[in-house]
Amino acid sequence: MSKTHYNVNGLGGDILLGVMGDPIAHSKSPVMHMAALQALGIPGAYVPLHIVPERLAEAVQAVRVLGFRGVNVTIPHKVAVMPYLDKLDASALSVGAVNTIVNDSGVLTGYNTDGIGYVRSLKSELAPDLNGARIVVLGAGGAARGIVTALLQERPEQIVIANRTKDKAEELAEACRSAVTVTGIALEQAAEAVSQADIIINTTSVGMAPHLDGMPLEPSLLRPGQIVSDLIYNPLNTRLLKEAERIGCRIHGGLGMFVYQGAYALEYWTGQAAPVDIMRQAILDCLG
Ligand code: ATR
Repeated sequence: MSKTHYNVNGLGGDILLGVMGDPIAHSKSPVMHMAALQALGIPGAYVPLHIVPERLAEAVQAVRVLGFRGVNVTIPHKVAVMPYLDKLDASALSVGAVNTIVNDSGVLTGYNTDGIGYVRSLKSELAPDLNGARIVVLGAGGAARGIVTALLQERPEQIVIANRTKDKAEELAEACRSAVTVTGIALEQAAEAVSQADIIINTTSVGMAPHLDGMPLEPSLLRPGQIVSDLIYNPLNTRLLKEAERIGCRIHGGLGMFVYQGAYALEYWTGQAAPVDIMRQAILDCLG
């Protein structure tokens, strides 16, 4: 492969990638993407970029000036970055947030790979066919929006969004209305929907370190054979997943979503298939 393949400003050189966030030091993206670049034999670097909100516009301009091929965008910039981009892919428009920017000779396009990354992980690890599935999504925030949007493409039978604040569940369900039935309910009224579901997905932060005891759901509502999925990857197995496994559910943790959102981004930047197993292992090694 030619070294100038990823040249975006006519100056040549290795591929430059990064992740913008505030804070950013904890991000596992650099470790994951550096391992991927190495495995693919692509010379370059993926660096953490600590960008405070007041300087986001300048940082986006710097992507063009410095000739970065692309960047990931994380908290708190995923929505705020949108006005500074030249184009928005359908994924970014439907979710209303951007986590990946691709630089084509100075023209910046925003994508959202979180939802499609999650669905690719769920399908490749546990549920190859989501067509006709009954799905309950716990939570109605930004993560839920991306996941519901991506799930709709798989034509499930229905999606029930259960949220602590019922209004937000109803609003998200309304915004996602399509050929698939999408309903919003209060989390405390989710018992029946959960017992009838094929797949239950936690998108809330309940159970995330350091609050390891938290569970978004009473596990006695679960049935053997159901798929229980948790977006949280710290810890790798939340208390919800441990309880679900004990009951006989099939469990799916959040690491895969993180790996596959990165895999899509890397594929947009390089045009090459992402080495997902190597990316996953890089994070596992880093988590010890
Ligand atoms: P994200 O982008 O990660 O989805 P968010 O937009 O802040 O973050 O949404 C967080 C979600 O977790 C919300 O659905 C929130 O419920 P509310 O809308 O009622 O705030 C949910 N959540 C957070 N803490 C929770 C808790 N202790 N119990 C139940 N749900 C909780």
